[in-house]
Formats: sequence, structure tokens, C-alpha cells
Amino acid sequence: MSTTMSTAVLSNRLELNSVAETALKASARFWFAVVLLGQLAFAFTVASFYGVTALHGNMHAWNKILSQGYVSGKTFTNSALIGHILFATVISIAGALQLIPHVRAHFPAFHRWNGRLYLLAAFTQGITGFYLTFAGKGLPGSTLLHIAIWISAGLIIFCAAMALRYALARDFRTHRRWALRLFLVASGSWTFRVGFSLTVLLFGPIGFDAPTFGGPLPVFWSFAEYLLPLAVLELYFFAQDRPTAMRRLATAGLLFVLTLGMGAGIFAVAAAQWIPTVRAAYDGRKSIGDTLSATIASAGIDKAAQQYHELKATQPAVYNFDERELNDLGYQLLRKNQFKEAIRVFQLNVEAYPQSSNVYDSLGEAYMDDGQNGKAVTNYRKSLKLNPKNHNAERMLQKLGAPELASSLYIGGPI
Ligand code: HEM
Repeated sequence: MSTTMSTAVLSNRLELNSVAETALKASARFWFAVVLLGQLAFAFTVASFYGVTALHGNMHAWNKILSQGYVSGKTFTNSALIGHILFATVISIAGALQLIPHVRAHFPAFHRWNGRLYLLAAFTQGITGFYLTFAGKGLPGSTLLHIAIWISAGLIIFCAAMALRYALARDFRTHRRWALRLFLVASGSWTFRVGFSLTVLLFGPIGFDAPTFGGPLPVFWSFAEYLLPLAVLELYFFAQDRPTAMRRLATAGLLFVLTLGMGAGIFAVAAAQWIPTVRAAYDGRKSIGDTLSATIASAGIDKAAQQYHELKATQPAVYNFDERELNDLGYQLLRKNQFKEAIRVFQLNVEAYPQSSNVYDSLGEAYMDDGQNGKAVTNYRKSLKLNPKNHNAERMLQKLGAPELASSLYIGGPI
């Protein structure tokens, strides 16, 4: 090879190496910016919903979201739950701040104290989370899902202990690596929500049963929430330790694509859950769902239905009568196997929103859970007619043995 040629090859190689390094750094920054945004949005939602309801002394509203929830008189379990939720907000904010390089470099004392707070939050989340899975009448979902959650608690505690150990030993390179692993496993609960919502956005509501949280999709994400980010992190370390241009470019590309997916998942979960939850938290109106829930518990569903009609006629501006209110209440009842009550609540919603495909879908599900398959079919058909893209209704009709009807409706045929 001539000297001119070898110089050209060398300079190309150097250029490629520098492009690869820039690409890897840029994709890591892009990942971090998206994570930061998503974690802060999650923290704000958790603080808004649980904080505002607690300020109003309405902790029972938590049971809209939680399966076991706040139970009057169970002081120890309630304290564990409050600690868990408080530190869910702390860990999301502290973790995000901890990774900002500028903060680390210019405010070392803050980094140290924030790091201690983060470690405390990690241990608290692992321990209280572990306890909450055993407290009360048990979590929804399969045994495999529970195993995945316990592994995540163990990993959080283990990574926190390792990060602490290497910080105390002043081995900051190893500390940084364990701290990053900790950040990823401790973000698992958040990653689960984002990944789950991304899958539903891409493929529709398949692979899970809403009231019981059974099915393969929750199990998949309960393992993937930490295994996937940890695997990508190890690839990132590998590309840093044994750098070749190709390795760095491949890792940068993978990280970039996964971050785009993560961004779409954040968008999906924010649109479907976080934004409506925050809106409801700061809505000055009273929740009709909470009001009826208390009446169902104390006086039964007939009284609650009567109360609903009365309040709607006399105080329409005082109460929040949005579609989501009764839909959430209906699912809350389904989770407690109160099928008759759930059916009645969904019927009220169908009366109020006769043009919504979703309310018929929910009513169909309640009838199906109650074993009234004929009525389930009728409601899924109505839902599909109002929204021919409701693939869930189509699948349920197939499950209920009315597939030919589903497909004829799907192309707009007569009932
Ligand atoms: C470290 C990060 C974690 C965060 C940020 C977090 C966040 C939360 C939040 C916000 C809730 C309230 C439910 C909701 O609003 O969706 C919750 C509930 C819960 N979490 Fe965690 N969590 C974490 C770790 C864990 C771990 C490691 C476990 C299990 C070992 C766990 C088990 C639970 C349980 C059992 C509930 C109650 C669920 C229910 O009653 O439906 N969490 N968590």
C-alpha cells in the first residue's frame, strides 16, 4: 500500500471512529432526555392523584387504581402503601436529577445528598413493594407475574447495595455502573407502564384481561421491564470498553430506535392515563364515581342508581359526569367480582353516552364475566358498529362464537 493510500485509510478510520463516538454519545443523551421527560411526567401524575385526594381526606379514591388499596383500620399496610407512593415520586425525580451530567459536575454536594435520598428511596420501594405484594388479599395477575415482580424487588435492593458499596470504597467507575443498573431496575415500574402502553398502541388491547390482569402481555412486560434495559446497558458498556466503530454505531442505532419506541410509549400512556388522571385530580367537581362507589358499599346498587339520576338532574355542574367516571367504577367493581353492580353501572354509562363504542365494550365485558353471553354478544356488536376498528370487540365476538357476525360488521354489513 502506498503512503498516501494508507494515510487516507487511517484518516477515514479516525473519522469513522469519531462519528461513531459522537453517535453513541448523542443517542445516550437522546435516551436520557426522553427518560427525564417521561419520569417527571409520571412523578407529577402520582403526586397529583395521590396528593390531591389525600389532601381532601379521600384516600378511598386510591382504590380506583389500586387492587388492594387503602383499607380503613389497616394502619401498618396503609403506612407501607403511603411510604411506597411517596417514594415513588421521590425516586422518579431524584433518579432523573442524579443522571444530569451538569448537576453531577457542578453541584457535587447536591449529587451526594440526592444520591443518598435515591438509595433510601430504592431500599424503601424494594421493601414496601415486596411487603405490599403479600399484604391484603393478594395482587391480581398470575404467579409468574408475581415472581417477576419479586425478582425486580430483589434486583433493586441488590443494585442499591452494590452502588453504595463502591461509593464507600471510592471506586467511582464501578459505582457509576451499578448506579446506572440501579436506575434501570428502579425505573422498571415506569418502564412496565410505558412498554405495556406501547404494545397496546401498536397492536390494540390484546394479550391481557383488564379486570384480572391475567394473560401473557403483563407477564412479558413484568420481566422485560428490567431485563431489556439491563441487556441494552451491558451492550453500551461493552461498546465503551472495547470500542470499534461498528460496535459503537450498532449500539447507538439500537439505543436510538428503542428510545423512539419509548417516546411513543410515553405518549401513549400519557394520553390514555396520566393526562386524564392529572385533569381529574385538579377538577374542582366532585367525582360521581367515588360518590356512587360509597353508596354501593353502604346501601347497594339500586340506591346508587337512584342517586345518580337525582344528582344528574339537580346538580349537573357540581359532579363530574365524564364517561371515564362510571367506566372506572365499573372496572373497579369487576375486579371485586361484583358483576351485577358493574353491569348496572355500565348500563348507566350506556344511557349517558349512547354514541360511545367504549361503553358498550365495557358492558359486553361485564356480561361476559357474569356468564350472560347472549347479552355480551349484543353489546360487543353495538360497540363494533359504532367503531369498526374496535379489534377487542371483534376478538371477544370470536371468543363468544359469533365470528361471522363480527367480520360482516367490520366491513360495514348489516346486523
Ligand atoms: C422502584 C420503583 C417503584 C415505583 C416508582 C413504584 C410505583 C408505584 C406506584 C405509583 C404505585 C401505585 C399504583 C399506581 O398508581 O399505579 C405502586 C403500587 C404498588 N407497587 Fe410499586 N413501585 C416501585 C417498585 C415496586 C416493587 C419493586 C414492587 C414489588 C416487589 C412494587 C409493588 C407494588 C405493589 C404491590 C403495589 C400495590 C398495587 C395494588 O394494590 O394494585 N413496587 N407502585
